[in-house]
Amino acid sequence: MSRDLSTELIHHPYRPPAGFEAPQPGIHKASTVIFANVAAMRARDWRNKLGYTYGLHGTPTTFALEERIAALEGGRHCVLVPSGLAAIALVNQALLAQGDEVLLPDNVYGPSRELARTELARWGITHRLYDPLDAAGLAAMIGPRTKLVWLEAPGSVTMEFPDLPGLVAAARSRGVTTALDNTWGAGIAFGGFDLGIDIVMQALTKFPSGGGDVLMGSVTTRDEALHERLRLAHMHLGLGVAGNDAELVLRSLPSLALRYHAQDVAGRQLAAWLASRPEVRRVLHPALDGAPGHEHWRGTCRAAAGLFSVMFDERYTAAQVDRFVDALRLFRIGYSWAGPMSLVVPYELASMRPEAARRRDHLRGHLVRLAIGLEAVADLRDDLAQALAQGFGAPG
Ligand SMILES: Cc1ncc(COP(=O)(O)O)c(C=O)c1O
Repeated sequence: MSRDLSTELIHHPYRPPAGFEAPQPGIHKASTVIFANVAAMRARDWRNKLGYTYGLHGTPTTFALEERIAALEGGRHCVLVPSGLAAIALVNQALLAQGDEVLLPDNVYGPSRELARTELARWGITHRLYDPLDAAGLAAMIGPRTKLVWLEAPGSVTMEFPDLPGLVAAARSRGVTTALDNTWGAGIAFGGFDLGIDIVMQALTKFPSGGGDVLMGSVTTRDEALHERLRLAHMHLGLGVAGNDAELVLRSLPSLALRYHAQDVAGRQLAAWLASRPEVRRVLHPALDGAPGHEHWRGTCRAAAGLFSVMFDERYTAAQVDRFVDALRLFRIGYSWAGPMSLVVPYELASMRPEAARRRDHLRGHLVRLAIGLEAVADLRDDLAQALAQGFGAPG
């Protein structure tokens, strides 16, 4: 039977030979998945990875990435979502119901706190903030309505490294589920599951992507029942990621450890150099002696991300700090760290976290966060030196 060319181009019979193998897995893209026959369609089961049902529920490409992220985190099951923030939202949605309470560290990633303050509150879920350096304080806060404790190590922007074993023990002893935002550790600095944490999420946007050009998140578990709840919520909410985005992360994963360690080494060198500068009151880098939570970092971590904050002395004005930031040439002003380009963001702690800014001595002064990229350390140091001179004048 001869067919029209338009039909032929859609239904062409050629199938390439099976068995193709290359360093990178193939990219499969689909909204629809084709079933061999009606029986196969009726037998479909989106809950396991034995077959394919619908593009949203997985392709060979997304399954491959899920398995690699589960291995990276030391977990068993992983689901992928369109951003790190979506991963946080998925955990909340899967585990919390009206009348429940969730506890967040007071240095939690800002949008996670906003999510609790707005959407979770609308659904009748309350939240309170705990001091991540005070495990006994967390234990005292846990009540019958507490269903989830979020952990973040170190906390966003102010970089205090928490007492993870103490916090986990406090939650576990009361049967409360723990979820870790492991974006900073990236599965390299420490293993969340080794510490007894139940759920580990990561913004794959950061280190696993490494390019500053993809948004994606992951939620990993070891526990079968928890995974089932997450997978159900994932399906009901219509979450999924595109094959091209999954491909970009798969391509970057083999260099993850190399990039992480290179940025760690460069970050520590620049943090130590900045700590010796007269303009700088404190450097908030968990691997630096005397940093808030440094002893917890030492007890938990094998490495550190190239991300830290600098407290400029209170004697300077906010305008001088802005001038310093604007004078930087290699550090560009931007939020999403762990890519090849070094980044800088000045934060106004007094409006962002007024309580912490008042109470914690290490937060006195003007905070500027630096994310170290993959440029040469000497060039980054020169850039910081010239910007310090422009912002604050010659060192006295
Ligand atoms: C600690 C942390 N968690 C989560 C996220 C959210 O990731 P995404 O930008 O993919 O939503 C970020 C982003 O900056 C982050 O720093």
